[in-house]
Formats: sequence, C-alpha cells, structure tokens
Amino acid sequence: MIAPSLLSANFANLEKEIQMLNNSEADWLHLDIMDGVFVPNISFGIPIVSAVKKLTNKPLDIHLMIVKPENYFEAFVQAGADYISFHLEGSNHVHRSVQILKKLGVKAGIVLNPHTPISLLEDTIKDLDYVLLMSVNPGYGGQKFIEHTYKKIEQLKNLIKKSSSKALIQVDGGVNIHNAPKLYQAGADILVAGNAVFTDQNPTLAISKIRNSK
Ligand code: DX5
Ligand code: ZN
Repeated sequence: MIAPSLLSANFANLEKEIQMLNNSEADWLHLDIMDGVFVPNISFGIPIVSAVKKLTNKPLDIHLMIVKPENYFEAFVQAGADYISFHLEGSNHVHRSVQILKKLGVKAGIVLNPHTPISLLEDTIKDLDYVLLMSVNPGYGGQKFIEHTYKKIEQLKNLIKKSSSKALIQVDGGVNIHNAPKLYQAGADILVAGNAVFTDQNPTLAISKIRNSK
C-alpha cells in the first residue's frame, strides 16, 4: 500500500491536490503534524485535518510529531482521523496512550525514530495496529533515506511474527520509486511518500508506480 504525505503538497491549492489523491491509487492519506518542539519544524494542525476530511473518503493517517500527543488524540479523532500514530520517544505512558486510541475507535500506531531499537516494542506490539518506522529524522520532507531501515524492517517483521501480532509495518521518509521494491520485499506493508509523489510531473502515476513496484 501507499500513503502519500500531504507535507509536500501545494497548500495554496489543497482542494486540487486532494482531488488528485482521490482519483489515485493512494490507500491512506498521511498527514504530518509538527509542533516546532518535538521536531524543529511546524506544519499544520487540526483545522486542516478537518478540511481535508471533508474533501476525501480515503482513510486519514495522522502522524503526530508533537509533545504530549495524548492531549490531542480526541481532537484529531473529531477532526476525522482513522489512523493515529505517535512517537515512542515522546510518550511516557505508551500503553495507556494505545488503549486511549482504541477506546476512541481509531487504529493505533507507534512511531520509532531512526535511533530507537525495535526491542522497545516487545511489550506493546500485540496491541498495535501498525508500527511506523522513520527512515529519516522527522521534521522535513525531501530528506535522504537511511539504509539501516532495511535491517529494522527485518527485526520488526520477526518480532511481529514471534508475538502473533497483526501490526502492519509502515515506512516514512525518503521513499521513492527506486527503494520501494526493496522496502516491500523486506516486509513493509505501507510506504509513505511525499517528495517522490508531489515533485513528480505526474503524481498520480508516481503513486501507482510506487504502489505496484513489488
Ligand atoms: C517527515 C515526515 C514525512 C515526510 C516524508 O518528518 O514524517 O511523512 O513528509 O516526506 P518524503 O517522502 O519527502 O521524505
Ligand atoms: Zn510522516
């Protein structure tokens, strides 16, 4: 599957961009929420998520790069989130946060930064709907893919199998048409792609190419 990231879209014409995504093979729409504290950049917030929800029937995948993400879960669910992921590095009560997301009726995901080991998921993996592996340091679109990610996908795949978890593996950052086949082969279920989609002359085709590149 593929989840195009809106971070690289043209915000001056968001409606047109969403229409393009609606008519594409995009499986989920990935929305990056940055607060300028957890990551050194600010993106957009709840009103934009609500506006996007009105324009699409595709599932909204909210990637929270904010401090105290649990304070905002309900607001993002009300704004139309279907999937919500938050960073392990930014949460002191991960188990509780996952339970809150489930109670709110959305799919729950945990995000790992490039430096965070897979082993830290051992006690939560069974409760998760997906794990998002960052393949760049979070904060910006258009960065270079970190090769070590392949090894982490492999480790995560083994942990999922060992624990009979149903979690999907999502990979985010520096994904493009060249590394997508190898990522799917390594075990990724859903790839996030921003730059590779929105800088392409034909974004719809780029989505299709990445998605079907297995
Ligand atoms: C980075 C974000 C990504 C970003 C990916 O912090 O989490 O979702 O939009 O962008 P590309 O595909 O350009 O690396
Ligand atoms: Zn993201």
